[in-house]
Amino acid sequence: MIDPAELVDAAMGRVNMNVYTDNDIFHLEMRRIFYRTWIYVGHESEIACAGDYLTTYIGQVPVIVSRDEDGGINVLINRCAHRGTTVCQRDRGTANFFKCEYHGWVYNNKGALTGVSLAKGYGEGELGDAQRIGLQAVAAVGSYQGLIFASLNPEAGSLEDFLGNTKPYLDDWAAQTPDGRIRVESAAFQHTFPANWKLQAENNTEGYHPDFLHQAAVRVQIHNSRRARAARGETTEKPVRRQRIAAMDSRGYDLGGGHNLVETPQVAMLAKKRFPAEFLDELAQTYGPDRVEALLGPPWRMTIFPNLAIAGSNIRVIQPLAPDETYVRQSFIDLPSAPESVRTHRREQEQGFYGPAGYGGPDDIEMFTRMQEGFRTAQAASLDPWLLFTRQATSEEVLDNGVRVADSTSEITQRAVYRGWAEYMGQEA
Ligand code: FES
Ligand code: FE
Repeated sequence: MIDPAELVDAAMGRVNMNVYTDNDIFHLEMRRIFYRTWIYVGHESEIACAGDYLTTYIGQVPVIVSRDEDGGINVLINRCAHRGTTVCQRDRGTANFFKCEYHGWVYNNKGALTGVSLAKGYGEGELGDAQRIGLQAVAAVGSYQGLIFASLNPEAGSLEDFLGNTKPYLDDWAAQTPDGRIRVESAAFQHTFPANWKLQAENNTEGYHPDFLHQAAVRVQIHNSRRARAARGETTEKPVRRQRIAAMDSRGYDLGGGHNLVETPQVAMLAKKRFPAEFLDELAQTYGPDRVEALLGPPWRMTIFPNLAIAGSNIRVIQPLAPDETYVRQSFIDLPSAPESVRTHRREQEQGFYGPAGYGGPDDIEMFTRMQEGFRTAQAASLDPWLLFTRQATSEEVLDNGVRVADSTSEITQRAVYRGWAEYMGQEA
C-alpha cells in the first residue's frame, strides 16, 4: 500500500498522480476523510415540510435525510436492519414511512422499526434488541445557515469548528435577500464523470483556467453585450471589452481544513448593474449599505472540503464512486423573494453555464476526463508521476487568522485542497 504521506510533497507544491488512481488510496480516503469528518448532505429547504426526505451518500454509505413530524432533521443509514437492503431508492419525496421491498419491514421517518412481516414467526429474542433495531442514525447531524452536515464519527468535533473560516462567507450567502429565503432546487442536474472526485473539488475555485478553457463563454458574453447594445438602439462602433479574470483584482484563499475560496469582486460589481434599484434599496435598508455588494452574487465561489462546491447560483455535491468515477448532484439556488427579473436571470445563467448544454460546466468535465486519461501513466514506473501545483506558491501571504491568500490564478486554492487532504490522510482513523 502506498503511504499517503509520500503522495503530497512537503512544500505542498507537487502532487503525485496516484492520489487520483490508486484503489487503496481511494478506500483510505473513505475511512480517513469521508467517514471521519462532517459531510454535506442537503439544504433545509429541500426537506422543508414534515415527511419530506432526500437520499444521498456519505462517501459510499447511502443515507436518507428526513424531516419528521416534530420538525426534526434525521440522517438515517439507508439500510434495512433485516438483511441490509436499501429501503428508499428515490432522490427525494414525501413519506412518513419507508418500506423495505424484500420482506416488507417498515420504518418511520425517524428510523424506528414499526412493522415486521409475519412477526409471529420470530421467537423470543430472535429480533435482538427491539429498542435498538431500526434504521441506524448517523453519529452527528448539524445545520449551519440551512446547510445540513452529518458525520459517521462520534468524535468528529463540532460542526462550527469544522466550518471554521468559511462561516463569515456562509453568513453572507444566507442573507442574499431581505427576508433571507433561499430555496435549493434539488438535483436539477445530475451527472457522473469518468474521473476522480478531487478534480471537481479543486476545479470549483480555480482562477487559472477560465480565461483559456472557457473561451466559448467569453464569446457568448460578448455576443450578448452586442445584442443588448443593439436592443437599446446604441450604434457605437466601440468594441465590447473582454474581461480577463487574470487582469482583475481577484484573490484566492486557503481557509484551512481543505476549505478554500476564490473572490472576484469585479464580477459582483458587474452583476449589481442588473438588479432593479428598488431591490438594491431594500437590501441596503435591511442589511446596511456597506453589505449590498457582498450580498449580491455573492462575489465568491467556495469549496467546503471534501464534498461541497458553492457557486453563485448552484450547489454541487461531489460523491466519489470509484477512483475514476464521480457523481455530482447539482442544485439550482433560487431566491424566492427576489424580483422575478433577478430570478430569471440567475436561472438562465445557471443553465447557460452549468447545464448539460451549457458553455462552461461541460468544458470542465471534459478536462477531468482528459486528466484521468493522462493519469493512467502513473502505472509506468519510468514516467514522472508528479503534477505541478507550484504556481506562485512563494507569494502566499498568511493573515492573522491563519488564512492564506494570494492571487486567484496562483493555484493557492488547489494547494488548499491538498493541504487538507494530507492532514486527514496522515492521521490514523
Ligand atoms: Fe429488508 Fe428483509 S432485507 S425486510
Ligand atoms: Fe471552469
